[in-house]
Amino acid sequence: MAKTRSLKKKPRESNHNPNPSMATPSPPPRRRKPQTLATVSAILAVLLVISVICLLLVSSNTWRAFQQVVSYETITVVNEFPHDPQAFTQGLLYTGNNTLFESTGIYGKSSVRKVALRTGKVQKLQKLDDSLFGEGLTLLNNRLIQVTWLQTVGFIYDLKNLSKLGTFKHDMKDGWGLATDGKVLFGSDGSSTLYQIDPQTFKAVSKQVVFYKGHQVHNLNELEYINGEVWANVYMTDCIAKISPNDGVVVGWILLPNLRKELIEAGYNAIDVLNGIAWDAEQERIFVTGKLWPKLYEIKVSPMKSTIKEGMVEQLCLRKPFNFS
Ligand SMILES: *[C@@H]1O[C@H](CO)[C@@H](O)[C@H](O)[C@H]1NC(C)=O
Ligand SMILES: *[C@@H]1O[C@H](CO)[C@@H](O)[C@H](O)[C@H]1NC(C)=O
Repeated sequence: MAKTRSLKKKPRESNHNPNPSMATPSPPPRRRKPQTLATVSAILAVLLVISVICLLLVSSNTWRAFQQVVSYETITVVNEFPHDPQAFTQGLLYTGNNTLFESTGIYGKSSVRKVALRTGKVQKLQKLDDSLFGEGLTLLNNRLIQVTWLQTVGFIYDLKNLSKLGTFKHDMKDGWGLATDGKVLFGSDGSSTLYQIDPQTFKAVSKQVVFYKGHQVHNLNELEYINGEVWANVYMTDCIAKISPNDGVVVGWILLPNLRKELIEAGYNAIDVLNGIAWDAEQERIFVTGKLWPKLYEIKVSPMKSTIKEGMVEQLCLRKPFNFS
């Protein structure tokens, strides 16, 4: 042992300057072997750090959002139906037999209503207290469930006669959208979080931040569950995000700017944003409308033929978090 050590030290000692006070520049010590070793270990350390970072990224939603193949879809209008132009649509669902249920907002005008699809006629209406602003609506086990804006209180109604069956408290920050797959409730509160909510306790059992190519999708509004995806209106846009409820990744965008544009061109200047998606699972029909829109549309969705320009979806569909205060 002692022998090897002294052998190793030898070359160092031979280069040692016997008089350090004389600042004569001495050639750098020739320590090729230790230097190579140091370089190799440095490279290994860097590689290790890189692989750890890669592993972390691969396991994160952000990275999956980057990798995800996103579909970009456009629409064609199959049918147009009348819609109450006084209805500030916040929740929409289809229950069969050409019947829709709708939740409307605005203080003093908020309601839950049963609407005939073909005529737009309101068949039953349950008004909310004037202090409440109606928001998202869904149906589970013949009970309509509604959330309200700037509140954590929600209401349960009987599907048949719209009589109020109960009140609940949820733990989202606000009440915007509701949908269900028949087991859990999906909820939105205007943030980029998609909640999964236990329909018995109304506690959030899971939360996913919704991402599109590394960008958070803020202002998630009205929701609908369609074939394993949660479709969300993004507030202040003409876009619907198709979200994978497992990881919050946006798997597709439906771009609908023409609906609002055509209504405005037809003279309906008072209309507000696109909001409200309903799904007829039996006949595979998709219905959309907007706040104060005079029409409700049955649409078909198909992949866009032209390629999407870089940054176009970000510009059309992503907005900064909305601040109401
Ligand atoms: C379907 O709707 C029509 C028209 O509103 C109504 O007369 C009929 O009773 C409904 N059928 C069912 C099964 O609810
Ligand atoms: C509504 O229907 C439920 C049962 O479906 C019944 O218990 C309730 O009394 C009805 N309410 C009104 C106001 O008719």
